[in-house]
Amino acid sequence: MIKVFAPATVANLACGFDVLGLALNEPGDIVEVGLNDKGIIEVLNESGVALPLEPENNVTTVAIQAMLDTMKSKQGVSVVFKQKIHLGSGIGSSAASSVAGVYGLNELLGRPFNKTELVTFAMEGEKLASGSAHADNIAPAIFGGVTLVRGYNPLDIVEISYPEDLACVIVFPQIEVKTKDSRSILPKEIPLKEAIKQWGNLAGLVAGLMKGDYKLIGNSLHDGIVEPVRSMLIPGFYDVKETAMKAGALGCSISGAGPSIFSLCQGLEKAAEIAEKLRPIYKNLNIDFELYVSKINNQGTKIIP
Ligand code: HSE
Repeated sequence: MIKVFAPATVANLACGFDVLGLALNEPGDIVEVGLNDKGIIEVLNESGVALPLEPENNVTTVAIQAMLDTMKSKQGVSVVFKQKIHLGSGIGSSAASSVAGVYGLNELLGRPFNKTELVTFAMEGEKLASGSAHADNIAPAIFGGVTLVRGYNPLDIVEISYPEDLACVIVFPQIEVKTKDSRSILPKEIPLKEAIKQWGNLAGLVAGLMKGDYKLIGNSLHDGIVEPVRSMLIPGFYDVKETAMKAGALGCSISGAGPSIFSLCQGLEKAAEIAEKLRPIYKNLNIDFELYVSKINNQGTKIIP
């Protein structure tokens, strides 16, 4: 068995719905992956977090199956979850599970596939989890750093450079928001005026990250399309946003499909300061919550001892 760490990720980054994402140093999934001679994909859960284990409902099984199908292989694979990001948290829980499985198997088989090919297999897991095969969590989980899915057909992933001391604060109010549900409430069409604002911000954010221009990053972290709709599903969202901005965040928006909320800022110290300011919000609302403070993970998924 080998042990794999697959990081949590923040998808969308405000203005980049379904195309932008970044990887966090923590939390993450830890799984053991091995080959078996039973000819089946078996998934065991020792993580303490509830997981659907039936093969047709398990994203890891589906992603691994997609990889084996491509190889026309009947190889048996065993996966044991040791640590699991909460499901439905909005920090790429299903992506991490899909990625960890295919990454580990690829290593055991001598790396027949490159990272972009691994993304396509893991996307099958995402399709099962959310009804849509998007890659904005999977790409940063595999590559690390900040990634742009420039196009889906064919899949084109661009790694975006970013300033070294960029840091992220996540607050995860422990209410479950299913990605399928939070996608179903989104508008099917948007006015051209809104689209212009959004792609201006998206281009500005990418330029700001690559230039290390914090002012431009901050000016670009806006989402006029998805956030106004989805924020209705997240109690305390606007309190968190206002508090984080007052405390010096560059921007604050919904992480992926929510309910987690992310803030970007300069430096871990500032991130810790913002996190402390956010702490009372969900305490006062009587909602259990987790806080994570992390720099951007520049390695992505990796083998660990
Ligand atoms: N881009 C996706 C969404 C990420 O916001 O629905 C969550 O899977």
